[in-house]
Amino acid sequence: MTKAIDLLYDEHQIITQAIEQVRAFLDEAVNGTKSIEEMHAYILFFRHYADKFHHYKEEEILFPEMAKRNELIAEGVIQEMLDNHVEFRQMIADMEASASEGDAAKTQMQFAQYAEALLDHIAVENDEVFQMAESLFSDDELENMYFRFVDMDRELNDAKKREMEASIQNG
Ligand SMILES: [Fe+2]
Ligand SMILES: [Fe+2]
Repeated sequence: MTKAIDLLYDEHQIITQAIEQVRAFLDEAVNGTKSIEEMHAYILFFRHYADKFHHYKEEEILFPEMAKRNELIAEGVIQEMLDNHVEFRQMIADMEASASEGDAAKTQMQFAQYAEALLDHIAVENDEVFQMAESLFSDDELENMYFRFVDMDRELNDAKKREMEASIQNG
């Protein structure tokens, strides 16, 4: 894989790891051994890392570039991925509301749906979208995209990004 696609792929790995942690956390919250209050930290991760750092790169850089190259891809899988991102934003807001109400069981149910949808989405991107990107663009174009990704992280605060990644990696 190229550096540009690698970067997005690595973010998918972090997001997948976070999903596993939240599943375990919510099991304990529902069984009453953990406070649902801590869920807000995870919600912040999904809102800032998955939805901002990661989805912005796809929405602002990768997807528009792919759409410019191929109308069929633009109207097909890219539109589908963009629609998913919108749905994910709503799902995060719904989970946040349930967690704020202290309803661990409801939060767990909503998170289960979110996790399943997000993992499906990540699988489509890993298996189809990223492959397409690597065949649509030249090495130079992908290199250029990589630098735009890095710039975007810097604009959004890359120290904060590394901190969020470390918090997930350290469990
Ligand atoms: Fe995506
Ligand atoms: Fe993605």
